[in-house]
Amino acid sequence: MTKILIFFLLLLNLILLYLLNKKKIKNFFYKSKIQLVELDRVDEIFLNNKIDNNLHGPKQEVIVKNFCIQGNNNIVGITSDYEAWIISSLSKISNNILEFGTCSGKTTYLMALNSPDQAKITTLTLSPQDLKGIKKNKFDNKVSYRNLINESIYNKFLFSSTKYENKIDVIFQNSLNLNEKLFLKKFDLIFIDGGHTYSIVKSDSEKSFKMLKSNGIILWHDFVPGKESAKNVVKYINTISKEKKIFHINNTSLCYYRKK
Ligand SMILES: C[S@@+](CC[C@H](N)C(=O)[O-])C[C@H]1O[C@@H](n2cnc3c(N)ncnc32)[C@H](O)[C@@H]1O
Repeated sequence: MTKILIFFLLLLNLILLYLLNKKKIKNFFYKSKIQLVELDRVDEIFLNNKIDNNLHGPKQEVIVKNFCIQGNNNIVGITSDYEAWIISSLSKISNNILEFGTCSGKTTYLMALNSPDQAKITTLTLSPQDLKGIKKNKFDNKVSYRNLINESIYNKFLFSSTKYENKIDVIFQNSLNLNEKLFLKKFDLIFIDGGHTYSIVKSDSEKSFKMLKSNGIILWHDFVPGKESAKNVVKYINTISKEKKIFHINNTSLCYYRKK
């Protein structure tokens, strides 16, 4: 009888331990289907210059204009400084750029600051007024849907009333209604960082494959296995990677695809 009781208690403890550490355990056993690559695999602009035997530094091509958002400025949904630098560097060699998800306009502003003078940046977003038409799909992750609502709060952006504004075309539109046929093979760089629900990531990505120029790059933000709000992004990228060569950039939450 005592043996049965000890066995039962041990089993109960194990179940409790599992339930309390479910995420950590899942992450430990998680094997990504997406190949992790170093940044210089994305483009040769990221190859380092040799300065000395023990010192390598960035090429001129990746010296960028930058700004940081201070901690006390409660701006939501932004990229890390390292990711922002990668996007700024790629903007330097891009004439037509598309962004899904403007939010505060931090990344859009960096794209405008660093792209060639004649470059055009198109960015799609939702204002609080646009939210009425947005519905949660059956398979959409709840947290992603909640974030979508919480991040659709801006009518003006960090670049508003600056001289860079005339390079930027903000489109207040649900990306699910975007007519990609108007932009076929137009963009050198596409940044997918709009709604993180499965239906939106899938639609934005499928349209992006059609709107991408030859040799152009698509970047997805928030490829973070195990993070609840990124669950649908990870799921979509894993699914599409069976058809498209997608890579995860080391030390970032960015994945990329380059059209050959
Ligand atoms: C994570 S934030 C974007 C952050 C921004 N890219 C940056 O780096 O600062 C997500 C943005 O996507 C927009 N968004 C979400 N769902 C959308 C949809 N279906 N169509 C257009 N924009 C959408 C939200 O309004 C919000 O501005």
